[in-house]
Amino acid sequence: TKPITTSVLRQWKLAKEKFSCITAYDASFSRLFEEQGMPVMLVGDSLGMAAQGHTSTLPVSVSDVAYHTRSVRRGAPNCLLMADMPFMSYSNADDACKNAASLMRSGANVVKLEGSGSWIYDTIRKLAERSVPVCGHIGMTPQAVNIYGGFKIQGRNETAANQILESAKQIEKAGAQILVLECIPETLGQQITESVSIPTIGIGAGKHTDSQILVMHDALGISSGKAPRFVKNFLSGTGDIRAAVRLYIQEVKEGLYPAKEHTY
Ligand code: KIV
Ligand code: NA
Repeated sequence: TKPITTSVLRQWKLAKEKFSCITAYDASFSRLFEEQGMPVMLVGDSLGMAAQGHTSTLPVSVSDVAYHTRSVRRGAPNCLLMADMPFMSYSNADDACKNAASLMRSGANVVKLEGSGSWIYDTIRKLAERSVPVCGHIGMTPQAVNIYGGFKIQGRNETAANQILESAKQIEKAGAQILVLECIPETLGQQITESVSIPTIGIGAGKHTDSQILVMHDALGISSGKAPRFVKNFLSGTGDIRAAVRLYIQEVKEGLYPAKEHTY
């Protein structure tokens, strides 16, 4: 098996081959995901909720993400592995470089950071110039939950949608290699995907993004409480974790997931 790289993802975008991504936090699951053909994994700061039991991602530290990144990498040597820069770990350029280095040394291929605005574009540029591949993350950015007053869909009206589209272009221009779009209307997900040449990974962003990502606990029906609209439990129809992962990969590839009922 050849390692998956950011240039492989760009080729898939050009060829309009949809690919799937999933979060992972430990070696047992990352091994299983890689064995079933999952090309991209993310050590998300969602680990604060999924693994640590917090109500938001804010308590997660760089060393938490680094610890899980090392574990995930041991199980999945060939996946393209992204790691989240946690809340306030990239608030200035020096911290961003130091903390990105820690995640890259733990086995990440790409670091992901949330938000838009000139300071984020400057940070992305600094990291990219220093040989750190970056994934942007816009739309609903969970580290801003206390600004939103809850996990709420973004980009509903035209002004807000245009702002998100403009940030997508700025993020690409700053040197990002990948872009995550979270909880935005499907039409905006499509517009952004067609407007940038880097691959887009959607979660609650409709079926037109180049790729989809789910938190593994959501895809396997482990999460409790009311699931967001975009979540699909792939285990319930299959009864087997490996089959569920294969079904997710296949439904993304064939454009069956996300369906209408999963989109905004
Ligand atoms: O933390 C996370 O799991 C994420 C994805 C859901 C995109 O950022
Ligand atoms: Na995250």
